Amino acid sequence: MSDSPLNESPDARRSDAQKTESCHVSVMPDEVIQWLMESDPAVIVDGTYGGGGHSKRLLDQLPMGEGVVIGLDRDPAVSERVETESHDPRLHVFLASYDQTPKALAQLNLTVCDAFVLDLGLSSDQLADRNRGFSFTQEGPLDLRFDPENGTPASKWLAIHNEKQIADTIYQYGEERFSRRIARAIVARARERNPVESVVDLVEICRRCVPRSRNHDIHPATRTFQALRIAVNDELGILERTLQSAPNWLAPGGRVAVISFHSLEDRIVKNAFRDDDAWEVLTKKPLRPTESEVTANPRSRSAKMRVARRR
Ligand SMILES: C[S@@+](CC[C@H](N)C(=O)[O-])C[C@H]1O[C@@H](n2cnc3c(N)ncnc32)[C@H](O)[C@@H]1O
Repeated sequence: MSDSPLNESPDARRSDAQKTESCHVSVMPDEVIQWLMESDPAVIVDGTYGGGGHSKRLLDQLPMGEGVVIGLDRDPAVSERVETESHDPRLHVFLASYDQTPKALAQLNLTVCDAFVLDLGLSSDQLADRNRGFSFTQEGPLDLRFDPENGTPASKWLAIHNEKQIADTIYQYGEERFSRRIARAIVARARERNPVESVVDLVEICRRCVPRSRNHDIHPATRTFQALRIAVNDELGILERTLQSAPNWLAPGGRVAVISFHSLEDRIVKNAFRDDDAWEVLTKKPLRPTESEVTANPRSRSAKMRVARRR
């Protein structure tokens, strides 16, 4: 972690930027409130601020004029949006990865928080932005970074890794059975001086290499895009490291809630809580969204939420 201060998004009262509202619908908001607020936290960190839905609900639950909510997000578009909104002075949003939570706390002269929430994956705002490459139904550059100003876009990532590395990544992070075929086709294109650069390039390869699932419930590119997104953003590494370090900056009795969307993430959360004596697991089985939430917000259907308390 560098020593330079994190970038806090100013309040709209200090900005002339255009208003752009988030279209993201928060997942399991009632459960987040119920499980985190039970211990009366004063300092809450929302590590994946996104559209700010969870943060705003949490702020509403704090006693009038008390407490603080610190939001972190890696995506500069999030802080740009926050700059256009006027918001509660108890909300502080930083452009930073959630593994930088101690640094965000330090910037507010704090060393620990009482509650920490992560809502993993990408937001509907990111999915809707064709320049990010997250949606394989929209043409655009194959980028897939949460922070498009840092790191390596997926197209370049494919260009600098060999066939085996590409296949292993698609298999490991996407659990894609046809990973070898896909990697071979990607490398063959590059050899013909026609590298995979756009969403359409990769979708075409996946369509050719992955047989349609029997009930057509999953797009042939789903697993490959998930794998590359995880790789270019180091999603699993950041999650693992953060949960390992969290007992150092979560106050005793403080709670952490993590909402995950696929088995690789959920396994990391489950093992992190189980393997460290600093945690008391509060949800023996992961909580799931209610049927009515899934009907109203289909994006929530694969969500699993686990909660632990710092001993
Ligand atoms: C599912 S959205 C969160 C939505 C939010 N909870 C809400 O209710 O509006 C996930 C967000 O996490 C952000 N993100 C992903 N990895 C991150 C990381 N390592 N640090 C901070 N933010 C991250 C993404 O940019 C995205 O905006």
